[in-house]
Amino acid sequence: MKTSAPAKVILFGEHAVVYGRPALAVPVTQVHGDVEVTDSPRAGIWINAPDINLHAELTSLPTDHPIAAVINRLFPHPNLSLLGRGQGEGLEINISSSIPVASGLGSGAAVSVALTRALASYLGQSLTDQEINELVFEVEKLHHGTPSGIDNTVITYAKPVFFIKGRPIETFRVGKPFTIVIGDTGIPALTKESVGDVRKLWTEDKGKLEKIFDEIGQISSTARRCIENGEAESLGELMDQNHALLQKLTVSSLELDELVRAARNTGASGAKMSGGGRGGNMIALVEKEKAETVANALVSAGAKGTIITEIT
Ligand code: MEV
Repeated sequence: MKTSAPAKVILFGEHAVVYGRPALAVPVTQVHGDVEVTDSPRAGIWINAPDINLHAELTSLPTDHPIAAVINRLFPHPNLSLLGRGQGEGLEINISSSIPVASGLGSGAAVSVALTRALASYLGQSLTDQEINELVFEVEKLHHGTPSGIDNTVITYAKPVFFIKGRPIETFRVGKPFTIVIGDTGIPALTKESVGDVRKLWTEDKGKLEKIFDEIGQISSTARRCIENGEAESLGELMDQNHALLQKLTVSSLELDELVRAARNTGASGAKMSGGGRGGNMIALVEKEKAETVANALVSAGAKGTIITEIT
């Protein structure tokens, strides 16, 4: 049984979304997490993840290991049980991912979603998207502290989402396709840390931070209307405004700012960091025919990788 889950990119609203404001995120299908589950003649649950040099039996991993955590949470699930499998029958779980790790593209959530789906199908159990989303959210909480749930949601449903923490999923229509270029600083950054630092700022000056979150939330809502109405050209300005607010939250970095500047200087209509920040990725809104030029400019400005993606 083979499954795949896409990466994601946050278009607007990261960090503010942790505080109840709306955010927009879309799947990025060019890179993905892939999982294959097969029978194994050896007893036990064998995990092979060559990208991270992991070849181990489940019980030899610490219980909070990201992969062990997914599997351990799945087996007690009422719909999933290995009961009835004979002694000596084992599983082989092969995991790979083309999503850069700790880059704000949801690599962990994508592997968790693919793994959950693959195991459930292998065991002949059907889980709804909602059940998968809830399970993966539990795992995200283990690793990211106080996540909003946006990453697991957009990756599970693989659709553009207008996300408000704790509310049922809302997808949105893309009135007219538009193109973004994603640029990777190549600097790994833990979302948990930037989210923790924003939390400290918020604790020190709630009034100021709530105002910034409100402004970001407004931008997300306006952006949704523009996208639905097919007015994507207005998004550039909104990206610039959102980036400036993220700088105020101290989650951008010199490298992200440099890529954002390079994109704007080569004709992007707007650009911003995306995800947790401090490293990881930025995005730029471009006309389709300028996408290659902007991607090349990002590489010249230090990007370690770029992805051109059309939001449809
Ligand atoms: C991470 O992709 C987005 C953040 O807003 C954190 C979260 O929503 O959990 C920074």
